Amino acid sequence: MPDKPETGLRGLVYVAVGVAALGGLLFGYDTGVISGAILFITKQFSLSARMEEIVVSAVLVGAAVGAALGGALTDRFGRRKLIILAGIIFTFSAVATALAPSVTWLIAGRIVSGLGIGVASFISPMYIAEIVPAKVRGALVAVNMLAITTGIVVAYLVDYAFSATEGWRYMFGLGAIPAVVLVVAMWRLPDSPRWLIIKSMVPQAKQVLERVRTVPDVSREIADVQQSMQQQGNGGIAGLFQHSVRMPLIVGLGLAIFQQITGINTVMYYSPTIFKFAGIQAAGTAILAGAGLTAVMWCFHVLAIFLLDRVGRRPLLLVGVAGQVVGLAILGAAFKFQQLASYKSGVAIGGLVIYVSCFAFGLGPIFWLMISEIYPLKVRGAAMSAVTVVNWVTNLAVAVTFLSLVKVLGHAGTFWLYAVTGVAAWIFFYRLAPETKGKTLEQIEAHWRTGKPARAL
Ligand code: BGC
Repeated sequence: MPDKPETGLRGLVYVAVGVAALGGLLFGYDTGVISGAILFITKQFSLSARMEEIVVSAVLVGAAVGAALGGALTDRFGRRKLIILAGIIFTFSAVATALAPSVTWLIAGRIVSGLGIGVASFISPMYIAEIVPAKVRGALVAVNMLAITTGIVVAYLVDYAFSATEGWRYMFGLGAIPAVVLVVAMWRLPDSPRWLIIKSMVPQAKQVLERVRTVPDVSREIADVQQSMQQQGNGGIAGLFQHSVRMPLIVGLGLAIFQQITGINTVMYYSPTIFKFAGIQAAGTAILAGAGLTAVMWCFHVLAIFLLDRVGRRPLLLVGVAGQVVGLAILGAAFKFQQLASYKSGVAIGGLVIYVSCFAFGLGPIFWLMISEIYPLKVRGAAMSAVTVVNWVTNLAVAVTFLSLVKVLGHAGTFWLYAVTGVAAWIFFYRLAPETKGKTLEQIEAHWRTGKPARAL
């Protein structure tokens, strides 16, 4: 199937991408904001270590549930309405957590915020992938990852700004601003043309495509989607069990699990300690160093945006994961051989920077990108929802096992264990990751029906 119809794109596409990426920004903000806020919450409510852990991880539980519910809801109500729903949830939870009179209220508010994160985390990339042309899909879906990290940086900076006054309520409350913008702006945008087609709203889909493409006739693109849809079996959860969906499901699950068990969130969470270890002592400076690190990630996301549609997904994924392994090996060594005192700080920070940079152009954006590309339209909601749930559950599992791992294996051993999972990830991706660069979503769907291996795409 040639991708001829998808040649040009109009400015509205960029607006749609920018607005949908606000979902990513809120995902980053709401996950990042707790790192600074928790210090003052613990103090105000005199939390035990156990309660502190619950307050921090409540959001992950909510995210897993939100991702689980989002699949069926998006099939039914569309991508646009779900993004609006996520925006409403973000607004509500920002206000509710800012006003929390008790810790129980706060935990409930953080779970609700997690529901929004779970929904936005996969519907924003899905919406972008379905509305943009194949040629630029890698770059434009990766904008969402850039937005996630921007949200994390902004959260760190807001935390820093309010830390002197211990203003944790403001830290949460400010999240309402982008959330309201998301709701209002998304309201005015069209739904995904592919979802409209699946709902037999072809005239509406045509209208949307005419607004976002410069080509004179969009009927060819519509015909491709319809034709591809007719060749697909069941939709929804039942559809996940068909033979042709097995391989993309395995690939998506691998991406979801490996993105987390290579330790990204513990390394990021742990970065202030690594900085301390490297001689950066003051809490304020450590927060700024954390923001600096995420700024480095930001630069490598930009590199990914530039390269994904040029060199492709596979090379970036394989080089990125290999780099993460190297970063983790160095980080482990810095902790193991502390007697290398004079340059240990440089070594630790070097390992950390290599690790996060490689994540930032590889597994970070590519997980969200590939899962929005590899599933047939009819099962896309259910499949993306399922692998996103697995991503959030793995995230939670890594978070709750980290401290015990450090107790048993030490810091060095823990980072080296993550390095070993990185090696397993590399082998898995080398054998199974498909190259989706430049292919229309319908061409990718057609590939799975041939029964050929993923790598043959
Ligand atoms: C991951 C998150 C992580 C974030 C860091 C995302 O791709 O899914 O778990 O916190 O990247 O920027």
